Amino acid sequence: MLIKSVEFITSAVRPSQFPAADLPEFAFAGRSNVGKSSLINSLVNRKKLVKISSTPGKTRLINFFCVNDALMFVDLPGYGYSRVPESERRSWRPMIEGYLADRENLRAVIVILDVRRTPGGEEIQLLEWLEQRDLTAILVVTKADKLSKTAQKKQIQIIADALAANPEDMLVFSSKSRQGWDALWNTIVSLAQAPPEDERA
Ligand code: GTP
Ligand code: MG
Repeated sequence: MLIKSVEFITSAVRPSQFPAADLPEFAFAGRSNVGKSSLINSLVNRKKLVKISSTPGKTRLINFFCVNDALMFVDLPGYGYSRVPESERRSWRPMIEGYLADRENLRAVIVILDVRRTPGGEEIQLLEWLEQRDLTAILVVTKADKLSKTAQKKQIQIIADALAANPEDMLVFSSKSRQGWDALWNTIVSLAQAPPEDERA
């Protein structure tokens, strides 16, 4: 994938603030601090497009980015971080669900998992929620550079088992080493090119 342009469009909390839904869109979801913002930066070859932080809870708004004037990337705030104030945690669900439930150009949700962590209830809930709404989930296991290739393989199996998923369906990624960069872009591009479900014959 050749990245010609990347542009920050807007930050939003509610649908009336969302930009026009006229490009194929991909949202990035996952636990706080899992590496969502880093993954977006890595995909678009930019170090500082999206703010990243070692303090979980950095991304608190829904941020829209346009890539090559052809795709929209959406960085979602992370879930499951207890140090985010309770009032904000309570507003997380309606904010994210308000986005996911009603975005007709959304082609897939990239669900990001940490290679070192066995996913739990929150990940399972998110995946079930996406399935109920017929939304495509792409499972990406990031921070792969933190483990050796052998350890990666073992962990992928553990993560797949926890999610009742097929290990072959999970993309192994690292924002640091760029492992998995081509594979993830290929997946995104092919979903962007496929006609939306409701227009299929
Ligand atoms: P919130 O916005 O707080 O939900 O976090 P986030 O999911 O956007 O995570 P972010 O990209 O801010 O990264 C969190 C921390 O993990 C930062 O210190 C990153 O440098 C680090 N990190 C992210 N991806 C990788 C990776 O692939 N490898 C390594 N080694 N570190 C990573
Ligand atoms: Mg972030």
